[in-house]
Amino acid sequence: MKKRVLLLFLILFQVISAFRTGDISGDPKTKSALGELLFKEKKLSKQNKLSCASCHIPEFAFADTIAFSIGENGQPGRRNTPSAMNVSARPFFFYDGRATSLEEQVSFPVEDHLEMNLSFAKACEKIRTDKKYIRYFREIYNELPDERNIRDAIASFERTLETDQSPFDRWIKGDSSAMTASAVRGRNLFMDDKKTKCFLCHFSPDFTGDQFRNIGLYDGKALNDAGRFEITCDSNDLGRFKTPGLRNVAVTAPYMHNGMFATLKEVLEYYNDPFKVVMNPVNTDTLMQQPLGLTEKELADLESFLHALTDKRFLPVKR
Ligand code: HEC
Ligand code: HEC
Repeated sequence: MKKRVLLLFLILFQVISAFRTGDISGDPKTKSALGELLFKEKKLSKQNKLSCASCHIPEFAFADTIAFSIGENGQPGRRNTPSAMNVSARPFFFYDGRATSLEEQVSFPVEDHLEMNLSFAKACEKIRTDKKYIRYFREIYNELPDERNIRDAIASFERTLETDQSPFDRWIKGDSSAMTASAVRGRNLFMDDKKTKCFLCHFSPDFTGDQFRNIGLYDGKALNDAGRFEITCDSNDLGRFKTPGLRNVAVTAPYMHNGMFATLKEVLEYYNDPFKVVMNPVNTDTLMQQPLGLTEKELADLESFLHALTDKRFLPVKR
């Protein structure tokens, strides 16, 4: 009994002293921890309905599970929500590359009418008048919340979202049992610059060359998202999109800028014979002019390889 009373006093004492110093033990201690809170903060949207994490769902490698995420006003957006992971090495953001740093990127979804629908200045004002954020920002930045440090905190959090614990990573470091025989065959196919050509666009440790390429999903009619062209107005960029990285791709369905493929199998069938899906593509990449002619077994092997890029935190694959 005595012990319990003592414990109660101890807790009370800690709570009171925490209030006095303003340091509540649950407070974020780092820029990225603060950024994580902001990433999940619905106040950044006009009616406090959506946070970044509403569309970039943590359990699905920070992507959404539907073709077009629903914005705050109830309308769908115009592009598929990509994974917000493994972005620290990217020179461009969004399918059309309209932002060139993570800090710059932050305000686009906030201001987008089909997303959070609020001016970035107003969103920051809401954070600036929230007592808890005033305390957090004082502790970490020694400043009041403002547009610069809010961008900085969210970008810091995004930079922590790197994954390198997939079966493929273990395999490439020498654990030959980490990938199945099918995934190893798939990896060889993926690297084959004559047969599949995948690696010619999806290279680097994150399986993207960070280039804008047109894989044939633009015909100016039913498929009329012009991609990079919207930013550069250069006709060479018609239908070009930022090559997405492929880490955790097994958990980020549906696929492509418009979410038109529901499964990896559909994606691979598309690559195998693009013209079967889009008859008259405009400005298609020279690498995409011929059907690949892969067998069912080869397609299954490629799929196994793509599954082996899933970080252990998402295994077993959900869905
Ligand atoms: C309503 C859904 C929605 C919300 C809310 C949302 N996003 Fe996005 N996000 C998207 C879509 C859609 C795209 C792709 C848009 C494009 O390419 O034009 C995207 C793209 C991105 C990218 C680029 C990834 C890449 O590889 O290019 C990052 C990073 C990102 N969002 C972070 C955020 C952050 C940070 C927030 C909160 C401030 C946020 N998003 C809020 C839907 C959303
Ligand atoms: C000419 C360059 C190029 C080649 C070759 C290429 N890709 Fe892609 N890949 C892209 C681009 C660009 C996109 C995005 C297109 C879009 O969103 O409209 C993409 C999208 C994807 C996606 C969907 C990713 C997502 O998150 O939506 C997968 C999976 C993929 N590629 C796998 C492969 C495989 C496997 C191969 C080889 C069979 C391959 N790619 C060959 C450029 C290429």
